[in-house]
Amino acid sequence: MVKVTICMGSSCFSRGNSKNLEAVRAWLAAHDREDAVVLRGCRCGGLCGEGPNIWIDEVCHSGVTPEAVPGLLAKAFGEEA
Ligand code: FES
Repeated sequence: MVKVTICMGSSCFSRGNSKNLEAVRAWLAAHDREDAVVLRGCRCGGLCGEGPNIWIDEVCHSGVTPEAVPGLLAKAFGEEA
């Protein structure tokens, strides 16, 4: 299981995590990985200035864009980007 935690705090959400969440969901569906992920939202992680933030298996990725999501998930799942 890969753990993906998306910050839903107001700063991260307005800075792009609403779109990033859509990108994560789309990638998981396209790669048939919806059963292999624990996808959660979390409250502000205290790193707003670096946001939008997404944690993948406890590693924080900052300044995430929807364009970056496929590469991050591919790496986490051991797939080619
Ligand atoms: S809102 Fe995401 S770290 Fe603060």
